[in-house]
Amino acid sequence: MRTRARIRAAVGASLVASLLAACGTGSGDEESAVPEVGDFTGRGPISFVAGKDFAGGMSALLKEWNDKHPDEKVTFIELPEQADQQRQQYIQNAETQSDAYDVISVDVVWTSEFAAHRWIDPLPEDEFETGKMLDPVVEAAKYRGQLYGAPNYTDAGLLYYRTDLLRKAGFDEPPTTWDEMAQQCDEILELPESKGMSCYAGQFEKYEGLTVNFAESIQSAGGSIVGEDGKPALDTPEAKEGFSNLVDGFESGMIPKEAITYQEETGRQAFQKGDLVFHRQWPYQYALANADDGSSEVAGKFDVAPLPGVDGPGSSSLGGWNLAVSSFAKNKATALDFIKFMTTEEMQRKRLVESTQAPVYASLYEDDELIEQYPYLPELKESVLSAEPRPRVVRYGDTTAAIQDEAYAALTGEKSAEDALASLQQRLAGLVDGP
Ligand code: GLC
Repeated sequence: MRTRARIRAAVGASLVASLLAACGTGSGDEESAVPEVGDFTGRGPISFVAGKDFAGGMSALLKEWNDKHPDEKVTFIELPEQADQQRQQYIQNAETQSDAYDVISVDVVWTSEFAAHRWIDPLPEDEFETGKMLDPVVEAAKYRGQLYGAPNYTDAGLLYYRTDLLRKAGFDEPPTTWDEMAQQCDEILELPESKGMSCYAGQFEKYEGLTVNFAESIQSAGGSIVGEDGKPALDTPEAKEGFSNLVDGFESGMIPKEAITYQEETGRQAFQKGDLVFHRQWPYQYALANADDGSSEVAGKFDVAPLPGVDGPGSSSLGGWNLAVSSFAKNKATALDFIKFMTTEEMQRKRLVESTQAPVYASLYEDDELIEQYPYLPELKESVLSAEPRPRVVRYGDTTAAIQDEAYAALTGEKSAEDALASLQQRLAGLVDGP
């Protein structure tokens, strides 16, 4: 799987090169199209721009920096919760070449787009400990071999499951396939304590989370959105089988109707209220759902496992966020220092302990103390290493919009899974494999 991902990444990079030449966003000349590492000069106050801090803890981190840097204070600009809305705001900022944003938090899927448009500065890789980080995470922060973001945390989807209910129904292990999950649900939902519960949910609202869940459904059946030849591969039996798990899940009620409105946070609330037996979610949910302050009804009653597949465990979409310097920032020396401060191993250990955000440093997944506290760390590392990137393309906005439209139409019953895949196959041609 990893080899396939690498081949795809390489194919993606060369396609991006031709795209660039065709779009006129680059010179087309290999050498001059990759900008030199930026000139990080200018010190003073900066802003740090990121999506809603639902894992918590941001103000404590910023206070730590601000106490040490009274003349270079950082102000947090909190953007909306949805990744797509954040992307819009970054693009608006870049189009007006505003210096309001200095350090920005960039979703791994935007790396190519932001770098190709020169909205973010190339970073000096030798000033970061990329050698100690997980390879796919570093790869996802690069565009044409150049580092454009410092990996801040990574993300891989996990199957959260209710240990208490599985045990009660006589299951010792979580399901590894969709069929097993459906069978377990049949038994579990018969239990008196499961009254009113539903089997499974992920993120199905029409936004980036849907692209993630769509990609995972297909990968987990052995398919992929982009094939090894760099062309859309939605006309395969694997794509149909995988995506049908979601479409049929909505049809049969295995996935509750209201899940069509779920983003990360709405789904988390449902899981924490005890409405779901199984939930596909990122690592950050672990700490919040386990909080013993009364905010979660499932604290101590769940565990995590790899996502289910068709013949065995499935595969996650690679998520995560990198910190980048906006090309239009003024105080770039401060911006670079702040990114270094935020992305040290020590800081990532702290954030793992406080908010279970998945670190990018390999050593933290092998740390005995941490493994004792978070026994799922070795599995999480495997999930990150085997995760597949979403299409690595400059026109990512159009690509994800097409996926969201078609996937949503099928999940809401407006189109069959087959029709949606067929029209997506056409819409992605030219987006992922050419100008
Ligand atoms: C998480 C992931 C990110 C993904 C987003 C979708 O934040 O880290 O990569 O795009 O979820 O909602």
